[in-house]
Amino acid sequence: MPTLTWVGKDKVVNHHHDVPFKVLRHESHFDAPEGSPINSTGNRIIHGDNLEALKSLLPEFEGKVNCIYIDPPYNTGNEGWAYNDAVNDPKIKKWLGQVVGKEGEDLSRHDKWLCMMYPRLKLLHRLLAKDGVIFISIDDNEQANLKLICDEIFGGANFINNVIWEKKFNPQNDAKYFSDNHDFIVTYAKNKTLWNRNFLPRTEIQNDRYKNIDKDSRGVWASDNFTVKTYSKDYDYEIITPSGRKVSPTDGRCWATSEENFNVLVQDNRIWFGQKGDGVPRLKRFLTDVQEGIVPLTIWKHTEVGNNQDSKQILKRIFPESKTPFETPKPPSLIKRILQIATDKQAIILDSFAGSGTTAHATLDLNAQDGGNRRFILVEMEDYADTITAERVRRVISGYGEGTKKVAGLGGSFDYYTIGEAIFNPDDTLNEAVGIEVIRHYVAYSEGIPNADQTPQDNTYTPYLMGLNSDTAWLFYYEPNEVTCLDLDFLNTLKFGAAKPGTAIIYADKCLLTKEFMTQYGIIFKKIPRDITRF
Ligand SMILES: C[S@@+](CC[C@H](N)C(=O)[O-])C[C@H]1O[C@@H](n2cnc3c(N)ncnc32)[C@H](O)[C@@H]1O
Repeated sequence: MPTLTWVGKDKVVNHHHDVPFKVLRHESHFDAPEGSPINSTGNRIIHGDNLEALKSLLPEFEGKVNCIYIDPPYNTGNEGWAYNDAVNDPKIKKWLGQVVGKEGEDLSRHDKWLCMMYPRLKLLHRLLAKDGVIFISIDDNEQANLKLICDEIFGGANFINNVIWEKKFNPQNDAKYFSDNHDFIVTYAKNKTLWNRNFLPRTEIQNDRYKNIDKDSRGVWASDNFTVKTYSKDYDYEIITPSGRKVSPTDGRCWATSEENFNVLVQDNRIWFGQKGDGVPRLKRFLTDVQEGIVPLTIWKHTEVGNNQDSKQILKRIFPESKTPFETPKPPSLIKRILQIATDKQAIILDSFAGSGTTAHATLDLNAQDGGNRRFILVEMEDYADTITAERVRRVISGYGEGTKKVAGLGGSFDYYTIGEAIFNPDDTLNEAVGIEVIRHYVAYSEGIPNADQTPQDNTYTPYLMGLNSDTAWLFYYEPNEVTCLDLDFLNTLKFGAAKPGTAIIYADKCLLTKEFMTQYGIIFKKIPRDITRF
């Protein structure tokens, strides 16, 4: 498989492992006003660099996110917007300087973009569920590069499609070569064989094609061509219409089925010969038979999913006090289409380049429409994470606008987080400031203890128990400012009674038990902090 190289690649391919694991700090909770419609709860908006935020999400969400939509900076070279599109944002520049080092100063804008995207896509890949899917908005500035790094990270075999979204419809008359009016949405499954794509709902215009001219008790229908071009001699026969006219398929074509099956269809009133019974036979397709929906096409027209102007107008109605609340919002209907194709009603949706929060808007909107309980996680790095991203979601939840322009609230709630402290100090010891519960949760995750088997500190056995099932007990024998010792005295404090599991994995600072004893009683010692896995 062809792979892409660029300056700085060697510094970033494994960088996601080096990103310090930080705790998400809960800042506030927002609830819909009383009397609002029911919508999803447990949604999150995180203010911070998505590299750190994605890492922090791993313990809870690794392999659990069903649908990712991201709209990263396109790297157009245009600067001076509400956010910086050219990877020259001071935060990203600083990050590149730290990760890529001196070499980073000479990177081209494409090198920088690739260095920025690669470790973030690596983490997104880990967060995606095994039957999940990622959609990435991009344009020609980086599409070709993005495709190659996604082939590397997601696997070329998991590429689904490169959707084309018609983002504008008026030509730009001063364009030097072409007036560019589309974006791409590059789509990969975590595992293409496991991803179940939904049908799109049928539109009223599409349903309007279906009529009931002959008052068929099975309801409205549309007629389809009854000939096919894959020729078979057995399907090439003469049909006599009700009016007595003899008809045959046109040259090189044949009927869609055998004469025997055709007669069955006629008996079942599924063949249409026109009002006068004299026409070339056509097959009646009932709306009830095709109701499952429509297979999505790869070209998404602005008339179906909105365009860039629509999205600005929608945002302006939410923020009437601001002339340009955000330069590059996507239309909610565009993201809603993605969600319709890729999510069920319980899905977890992640957008780690959240901008004005359109993904949250689309999620709440679709929930309101179909009674779903989809949850969103948004990450935005810039300071407007609160004033634009979260504020839009607050307004959409509560309702906005006045008089005839009033838009009803969609309901729901979300929690707002910032990125807190690292779990490990620079000298690799545990950072006690994050709190013991957070440390226990991290260690439990690193041990792969299933959620259902994790135990709180106030369990009935011992406050050091992290997890328990019929096979294994996991203990985290840790005390701030104290050296803990795995010895017989400690073992004597443990009383598992009937729940006694065959294996005990015990974290402590020291161990005084002999190897033979531990083998005999199924005890595995892990030293704090040396043996705690880093992600
Ligand atoms: C093209 S905008 C997304 C627009 C969004 N889809 C909408 O409809 O409003 C890209 C966003 O990603 C944010 N961003 C860029 N780098 C980021 C990073 N490392 N972490 C978090 N957000 C980042 C930018 O600040 C910007 O708001």
